[in-house]
Amino acid sequence: METIRNCAGIGYPAAGDTTGSAILSLFLAMSLHPEVQQRAQEELDSVCQSRMPEFSDRQNLPYINALCIEILRWSSTVPLAFPHTTVEDDYYNGLFIPARSIVMVDSFSMNFNEETYPQPHKFDPERFLSADRKTCVVSSASSAAFSFGKRKCPGRYLADAELFYIAASVLKWFTIKPQPGVVLPVRHEELFTSEIVSSPLPFKCMIQPRGEQHDALIKDAL
Ligand code: HEM
Repeated sequence: METIRNCAGIGYPAAGDTTGSAILSLFLAMSLHPEVQQRAQEELDSVCQSRMPEFSDRQNLPYINALCIEILRWSSTVPLAFPHTTVEDDYYNGLFIPARSIVMVDSFSMNFNEETYPQPHKFDPERFLSADRKTCVVSSASSAAFSFGKRKCPGRYLADAELFYIAASVLKWFTIKPQPGVVLPVRHEELFTSEIVSSPLPFKCMIQPRGEQHDALIKDAL
């Protein structure tokens, strides 16, 4: 009973801020990149026509999948993962790591490594598509955003499914735009907080239904 209670207890704080931050980052990225949003909506319209996206559509939505992975990379929600301690002396790539050392995973540097991700500050889902653009070549559950090893985020499959469904549903129904007259910054440090769980700094955007056909979809879903 205590184990069940503790699992539920840790799940809430571990899931809430991180998933919330990733979803806010979706709204921020779409406010900054109308060309990405338009391409995502074209893919959703061609696959789902006038109905809501479903999980079964996922394999036919490579650009939406790539967009979700790019959100996790670009927002780097948990930039240094959580600290861990070595229990015994160890060597890694020739480096001696004494027992009881604190080891941190620098996910931010991995996500912004320009050898892996050319122009790393650019928000570009294309980087995760195959050459023919028909397939998303990685799964978001394997993103560095969830860290590595035995203590890798156990909620990654849920987070991945939530982010996909929210991105697909929101972009099918709505267009996200910056508020008229508001110029959003572009530098990472001006867009996100610098905390254990990094989130978009407050920003204003408009969320507009995409048109009459989409108004009907929204009303049907209520
Ligand atoms: C976008 C969403 C999420 C991100 C970016 C994220 C990221 C992370 C990271 C980086 C860690 C640390 C791993 C490490 O210690 O090296 C972690 C741990 C954890 N996450 Fe997530 N997470 C997300 C969503 C979730 C969800 C939805 C759940 C549960 C429903 C969850 C449950 C946990 C738990 C329980 C731990 C601690 C695991 C342990 O210490 O062994 N996370 N997460």
